[in-house]
Amino acid sequence: MDFLFICHFLLALLLSPGSFADLEKQRVDSGLEIYKKLFEVKRKDQMNALKNLIELNDVNQQYKIIDIMLKGLFKVLEDSRAVLIAADVPPDGPFPQDEKIKDAYSHVVENTAFFGDVVLRFPKIVHHYFDRNSNWNSLIRWGIGFCNLTGVFEQGPHSQVLGLMAQELGISEKSPDYRNPFKTDHSEVRWQKTIKASSELWCAWVGVIQSDE
Ligand SMILES: *[C@@H]1O[C@H](CO)[C@@H](O)[C@H](O)[C@H]1NC(C)=O
Repeated sequence: MDFLFICHFLLALLLSPGSFADLEKQRVDSGLEIYKKLFEVKRKDQMNALKNLIELNDVNQQYKIIDIMLKGLFKVLEDSRAVLIAADVPPDGPFPQDEKIKDAYSHVVENTAFFGDVVLRFPKIVHHYFDRNSNWNSLIRWGIGFCNLTGVFEQGPHSQVLGLMAQELGISEKSPDYRNPFKTDHSEVRWQKTIKASSELWCAWVGVIQSDE
């Protein structure tokens, strides 16, 4: 798995919203439910991408890739936010039907979730780039708020990612027992407790956990 391959793979991932084509035949009024299935598929791709990034095991390359990736991710987020705001799409309203708006909606939901994974798995690297960029800060605040109201993250394996990322990024106050489940610099007991409290999906990642320090 080389550097350029991973870069291209990640950028393609950021830019391709889940395809509705094969699901479109189902009833439109269950748009959100249909989207949630698509979201699961997309999340699996994202986890694979993340796994490749972790397995790269080369901090310098991880810095470079994450730098490029974050620029792409926040550009997509910014453009998508503009589309959603221009069309006055409420996150908790009926699921959008217009293709362009649907794409913008998926981009926001998927890239916000993915950014959450990346900041939790590579906190040091992400803070290095994120902390000096106030535009990114306001974009992700907006993204987290939007996602939180969509209902996509309400249950299941992704229910913790918004809260955890908001705490890791310093957007919401860290609760006293906040622990980034992927940081290894704390005691085994807390580690086990955190993992146990996390979802099945997060647990599945334990196999690929390494520190990015
Ligand atoms: C999501 O919304 C709920 C209810 O408004 C709020 O309590 C919670 O803090 C929000 N979570 C995030 C991560 O913003």
